[in-house]
Amino acid sequence: MTTASQSLLGMSLLDRIGNTPLLRLDALTASLNAPPPRVQLLGKVEWVNPGGSIKDRAASSIVQAALREGKLTPGKTLLDATSGNTGIAYAMLGSAMGFPVTLCMPSNVSAERKNILSAYGAQIVWTDPADGSDGAIRKARELAAEHPGTYFYADQYGNDNNWLAHYHGTANEIWRQTEGRITHFVAGLGTSGTFMGVTRRLHELNPAIQCISMQPDSPFNGFEGLKHMATALIPPIYDPTLADRNLYMPTERAYVMAKRLGRMQGLLVGVSAAGAVAAALDVAEQESHAGREASPKDKGEEPSIDNIARFFGAKSGAGRPGAFPRPVMNIPQPNGASGLKKGQRVRHAKYGEGTVLVREGDGEDAKLTVVFERHGLKKLMEKFANLQKI
Ligand SMILES: Cc1ncc(COP(=O)(O)O)c(C=O)c1O
Repeated sequence: MTTASQSLLGMSLLDRIGNTPLLRLDALTASLNAPPPRVQLLGKVEWVNPGGSIKDRAASSIVQAALREGKLTPGKTLLDATSGNTGIAYAMLGSAMGFPVTLCMPSNVSAERKNILSAYGAQIVWTDPADGSDGAIRKARELAAEHPGTYFYADQYGNDNNWLAHYHGTANEIWRQTEGRITHFVAGLGTSGTFMGVTRRLHELNPAIQCISMQPDSPFNGFEGLKHMATALIPPIYDPTLADRNLYMPTERAYVMAKRLGRMQGLLVGVSAAGAVAAALDVAEQESHAGREASPKDKGEEPSIDNIARFFGAKSGAGRPGAFPRPVMNIPQPNGASGLKKGQRVRHAKYGEGTVLVREGDGEDAKLTVVFERHGLKKLMEKFANLQKI
């Protein structure tokens, strides 16, 4: 097994993790009441990490601690549950450092991710997509308990080395890159490692910084890797008291923002990053209104809030728009489907088979949320009738 080392010539793969740039998103803030430079929205460009996402940071911190502490010894296989990006990071590190990797993941991850994992040579244990990332966690716990001698169970959801990667790395980078002028930090919650680590450190550096978490607004959503905490297995490293505020994001808004970033900012990002940008823009809008009313400039003084730095947790170049997980639809309950209940299987002539996940309301006004196994993004917004029970 080899470890990372800094040599005089070139650098190791591990040395390439972190120290990512901050990108200004001026096109998005141009229409705000207080346009740049008074309000600046900045994204941390995590896709330049060698595995293509922010999860390289947590994975390498977990692996390096396990090597140091003698938990990942020669002959042992690294095991963890992942919705994709941490798996890619582990698989890349396993290949570069010489240890085998087994990953438990929902089988509906994108074909692109499956191909990447297979190229790195990781073993995959597929779990039921209906059980989401929690099903993968349960499977990994089961395997770790059954074969303690075979596996080092990395447990990204419960391993302190996850959030510590962001406490020591990501947060200090942001502080330096913004010259300490950051006022708000927004990031999505998956394991919560990014948010916990960055928030703890930023609050130490300046307790006035507002740290705002973003999570899906419903248990059934298209955010790969993010958790709806009210209904999910709560990650042991998650401390709900740390956030100054929590925002809840509909999947559809993130899709719209992903498109907007592609068309307006030249950025192709995944749904989670787009959701974080949408949340950060909401915060920027609220603050720009508040800032204008409260601005000292209105009283004839120099503006004191020039260059407010805003940050969102840009994540992953791996999950591109178009490679979304199974779609979730909110549809008005059509006449033919009255009586459909949660869990019921349905078929639509055009869109194939699906499962009713939520039924809200009664009678004519009732709405169903249905997940269809096979269909694309553009169908997400469509309304349609003729659901048949199967
Ligand atoms: C694309 C993406 N964004 C965000 C997250 C969440 O980050 P964290 O696990 O640090 O909360 C993940 C986690 O898997 C992810 O894959």
